[in-house]
Parts: sequence; C-alpha cells; structure tokens
Amino acid sequence: MNASSPAEQIKQLRDQINYHLYRYHVLDAPVISDAEYDALYNELKALEQAHPDLVTADSPTQRAGAQPLDAFTKVTHPAPILSLANVFDAEGLVGWRARIGRLLPDPDAHLDYVVEPKIDGLTVVLTYENGRFTQGATRGNGEIGEDITPNLRTLRALPQRIPIAALQSEIPNPKSKIPSYLVVRGEAFFPLDKFEAFNLARMEAGEAAYMNPRNAASGSLRQLDSSITAARPLTLFCYDIVAWSGGDVPGTQWERLQYLRDLGFPTSPDNEYCPNLDAVAEAYGRWDTKRNNLNYEVDGIVVKINDRALADSLGFVGKDPRGALAMKFPAQEKTTKLLEVAVNVGRTGVLAPNAVLEPVEIGGVIVRNATLHNYDEIARKDIRVGDTVIVKRAGEVIPYIIGPVTDLRDGSEQPITPPERCPFCDAPVTQVPGEVAIYCDNPACPEQLVRRVEYFVSRGAMDIDSFGAQTAVLLYQQGLIHDVADIYYLKKEDLLALEGFKDKKVDNLLAGVEASKARPPERLLTALGIRFVGNVVAGLLIGQLGGIDELAAASAEQLQEIEGIGPQTAVSVTDWFADERNQHLLEKLRAAGLQFAVKKTAVDDSTPQPLAGLTFVITGTLPSLSRDEARALIEQHGGKVTGSVSGNTSYLLAGEKAGSKLTKAQQLNVPILDEAALRQMLTG
Ligand code: IVH
Repeated sequence: MNASSPAEQIKQLRDQINYHLYRYHVLDAPVISDAEYDALYNELKALEQAHPDLVTADSPTQRAGAQPLDAFTKVTHPAPILSLANVFDAEGLVGWRARIGRLLPDPDAHLDYVVEPKIDGLTVVLTYENGRFTQGATRGNGEIGEDITPNLRTLRALPQRIPIAALQSEIPNPKSKIPSYLVVRGEAFFPLDKFEAFNLARMEAGEAAYMNPRNAASGSLRQLDSSITAARPLTLFCYDIVAWSGGDVPGTQWERLQYLRDLGFPTSPDNEYCPNLDAVAEAYGRWDTKRNNLNYEVDGIVVKINDRALADSLGFVGKDPRGALAMKFPAQEKTTKLLEVAVNVGRTGVLAPNAVLEPVEIGGVIVRNATLHNYDEIARKDIRVGDTVIVKRAGEVIPYIIGPVTDLRDGSEQPITPPERCPFCDAPVTQVPGEVAIYCDNPACPEQLVRRVEYFVSRGAMDIDSFGAQTAVLLYQQGLIHDVADIYYLKKEDLLALEGFKDKKVDNLLAGVEASKARPPERLLTALGIRFVGNVVAGLLIGQLGGIDELAAASAEQLQEIEGIGPQTAVSVTDWFADERNQHLLEKLRAAGLQFAVKKTAVDDSTPQPLAGLTFVITGTLPSLSRDEARALIEQHGGKVTGSVSGNTSYLLAGEKAGSKLTKAQQLNVPILDEAALRQMLTG
C-alpha cells in the first residue's frame, strides 16, 4: 500500500473488500483466494485497531455483530409490505390474466412478465439513505415490522453502501439517477447445503434442531445478540423496490432486477423474463423439477407483470396486489405409516430418534426414514408408533415429520418413550438440565467411537478418503481400534487378514492415513470433535494461539479474549483438555507424528518462483495433495490460486471427479494440468 493517510488506506481496503464480497456472495465468481481475502481483511483490521476513531458501523470488519439488544424496536414501513394471491396450476394463471383483462382498456392487450422463484425465507425491508444502509426490518404485519439492522449488517451478501465502489463506473450517470432514499425488499434464507450440518451440530450440542431452513433463517435473524446471527450462513436475494425518492428507478420489473444487481444487491440467478403468458406456464412446468436442484427452498414461482406502472395501477385485493401472482407448487408432503422409532447415537453421545416409515414416494424419491429431531418434539406433537404421519421432503434437507393425522387412529398406536439405556452399549442415559437432548454418557460406547472415527476422517477434518464408515465399524468389531488415534497404528498384516481387504485396498488405506499426518493443526483440532469447535472456531483458535499445545495451556478467560470465542466454547475447550483420557489421546496422536503446531512458511526469497504471474484454479481430488496443500505449494512458488475459471486463469489443476470447472476450462481453452505436471513445472 502506498504512503497515503490511514483514512485513505482504510477507505481503499474497504472498497476492495466490499468488491470481493460482492464477487463471492452476489456474483458467485470470486477472483481472489480465501487467503488473499483474509490478508486484506486482516490489514484493514490492524489499521482500524491502530485508529479506532476511524471505525464505522458499515466497515466490513463490523460484520461479527454488535452489542446485544434488550428488545427490538418497531418500525413503520414507508409503504405496505404486501403479500400475494395464490394459484396452484396453469388454469389459475389463465383466470388471473382474465380478471386483469377486465380492468384494462383492452382486455387482450399484450403483456410480458417476469417469473421469479418464490423463496421460502423471511422478508426483509432494507433502507438506504444517501447510499448507506441505515435500517433493516422484518415484515411484521406488513405495516409495522421489527428493527433488525445489527443482525442484517452481519450478512455478507448485503451491501452496506450502494452502489458498491467497484460498480460505480458501470452505472450511467450514477449521481443523477440513484435515489438518495431507497427501500429494497428481499428474502433472507438459510442455504440448504449448510442446513443439515448446522442442525446436526445443534443437536450434538444438546440444542433443539430447527424444523426447516425457513425457521432457521427466521430464528437466526430474530436474535437480540447479532453475533449469533453473524455465525450463521444466512444470505439473501432482493426482488423489489418498495419506496424511493431523490432519483429514479427503472419502469419494468426485469430492468429493476438488473438495476438492483448493478447497485450491488444479490438477486436470484434463476429469475426469468417471459415474453407472454405461454412462456409463464411453460416456466411453471419446468420449475417443478428445477426447484429440487437449488440451494434454497422455493414453494412456488412469483409471476409479475413486467410493466410496473401498469401493474401498480391495477391496485390490490386486501393485501394482495393484482399485478403479481404466486403459483404454488404441489406440497412435497405425503402421509405414510410410522413403523418404528430407531435411535441414532452421535459422536457426542446424543441419542436422536429416527422414524422408520412405510416407504413412500415424495417428489420422485422413495422416503424410508425421517428425522424426529428429539423426544421433546415427539411429545409435543404427540407422535405414536403406528400413526399415519405427514412427512415433508424439501430439496437436500433430510425428510422430517410434520405431525400425526390423529383422525386416522384406531387405538392400536403406541406412545413413544425416550430410551432409558443406550441401545448400543446399555449405559443409562443422562440429560443435561436446560437441554432437550438425551445422552449416552459412556465414553467407551462403541457406536460413539465409530461416529467419532467417521467424523475424524471426514472431509472438513482429517480428510482420509480411503476410510469410510463401514471401515470404521469393521475395524472396531475386529478390535483393531479403540480410539481415533488407533487408526495411525494400524498394521498392514492385520488389515490383510480382514475380509475384502486386498493388497491394493490396504495400501490405499494406509497411504491415506499417512498423508493425513501432514494436515495443519486446525484440521486436527476440528477432527477431535470438541463441542462447539467446528472448522471456523478451530481456525480462530489455532490462528491466534499457533498450536494445540498452546491451546491446551490456555485458560477459559484467555480463550474468551479471542474474537469470535464465547464463554460456552471456551469452557467446552478447557474441559476437554482437562480430561485425562483426552490428554492420553493427544499424546498418542503426537507420537504418531501429527502436526500440533502451525508450520512457519516464512517467505524465503531463495525459494524459486517459477509460477510467478500465473493464476491457477484447483478442482477435483488430487492423488496425493489436499486442496489446501496444493494451494500452499503453488503460492510458495509464486503462483496465485483463485476460486473460479475465467479468461484470466493460466491453468486448471484437475484431479479425479472434476466437475463444472473442468467443463468451463475446456470451453475457455484453459490448459489443464494434473498433479504430476504441476510438480514438473515446480522443478523446472
Ligand atoms: S413479491 C408486491 N417476489 O412470498 C410484492 N415475494 O406470499 C409481493 N416471496 O411474503 C411480494 N420470493 O416474502 C415476491 N420473488 C419474490 C418472492 C416473494 C418470496 C415471499 C414474500 C411474501 C410471500 C408472498
């Protein structure tokens, strides 16, 4: 950075960071690596720490959350936040068009439309004054909502200023056109690919699972403590401008969506322009399958007359504007019989009830199991074995039971009682006061061990591909593992004696185990499965302290001083390290040669830089390097690694099971390397 004033440096960094957040969260096309992003962020953070007077609420560093509130304040919306009339088929669509026709001078006038996904999230109303985000509210009753500004500030997809600096030049006459007061409506939601893992972590921590992604979004946004919201992966799509003054906005819905995007707001990439009503009906047909392939839940499409002046002139019926319509999809719910309740034991010992169902087809998939979340939930809904139950399946989310159909009972149904003993080890169960979960408290429970091993070797942890859940079960049954560290002491001859374990399979397994010893300490910490310590927290702890031993030596008070570490996590960590059995486990892992401290990779000027000026994208599974290791290797030799393939990509480094990035690279004629070819480039 040049020798400009701190204020200027801070401004430049914020603009850069906002640009990269936009590339990542809005365009889904990052141009720098996560590490490069972190470097910019840390530079800004350091400058702000040195100049606290220059910290502003809209700085990207303030996304970790603000002081907790005592209550939400009420805000009156500048215009009613309307709802939508529903139809359920193409007939309903034609009926709507006919009703509109009767209000038009020419009933058969040609109209065009925009079709948008009807996102099943939580409506948010976002106010911008002079380009700054000043207020965010819930819909409430449509007239009065709740002020959740600090929570919304934590969403990385939400622009704090508009237009974001990087886009200023792309807007014609920005100063004259952008309204000085602009209120945008959008839908905040919990991405489906994050929901399962998030809920699982909650259950394992003894907290109640969220019923569905919608509840998770709403529960996350209605937090008085915005640091809780900040820790959740919420994101948002915007679709309307509710009010504006001091400038103009485009007159058609299609242009408004583009305009929102130009200002830096995220909009759904799945919005469609439809030149006539047939195109709308056709889109509805396509969407019924498309809905299952999205990373957010949709319960229908929204059809909007493209000409906004015309649409608005049609007025409303109650709270429903006539100029727009929701076309709902058939619910992905079916009824079936609850045959029995199986119990799963997680790696932390939580006993989770799981419904065994009479198989039923829902949205093209045969459903045999569904989650019942926890025993409180079962009691609350009075679900019984033998009941006919309503099962819901949505996208990637594990099917769940909405409730029983009590009218269909014949008296033979059996109430469900929580188990008193662990079904796997027969230890008595325990319950922590204030938590809904029940636990198997036996650290030697075989099922818990298998689950811990499964987690230890999983992708985000030690990432040992060759090691599946079945391997874990088998090794336990054969008495070859008693704790996770035992996987580093497996002997070839013992493995060869197992059924189905041929030479090659054993070699693969052992090579995978061996390679995992080089994983950085934050991965190891994640893999240990300490409550509340996932990837992100592990990264924070090791980043601050430098290694596992430093962490083991820290007090709960010291840990809480680290940004992002709360009291619950701090105590969970210190309790874990205080347990002798865990100390023993750590020594076993250390003796096996695992990485306990961050490797110092000081930039050594003497390292040859054959990759200087080259940009790489990594995809698929490489034979010996993890992605992080490949990235580190490239960066050590002067290269850059980015997340997506573009015209600026020099090489795609591709391993097995490469997907869309490979296709993209082939389309753009980007040369493709395998790991061996990369190593050759490094050596000369
Ligand atoms: S337009 C006048 N567009 O669906 C504008 N709504 O039943 C009325 N929703 O509460 C809303 N995605 O929260 C609109 N692309 C979209 C939407 C959408 C989701 C929600 C919205 C509203 C409900 C209407």
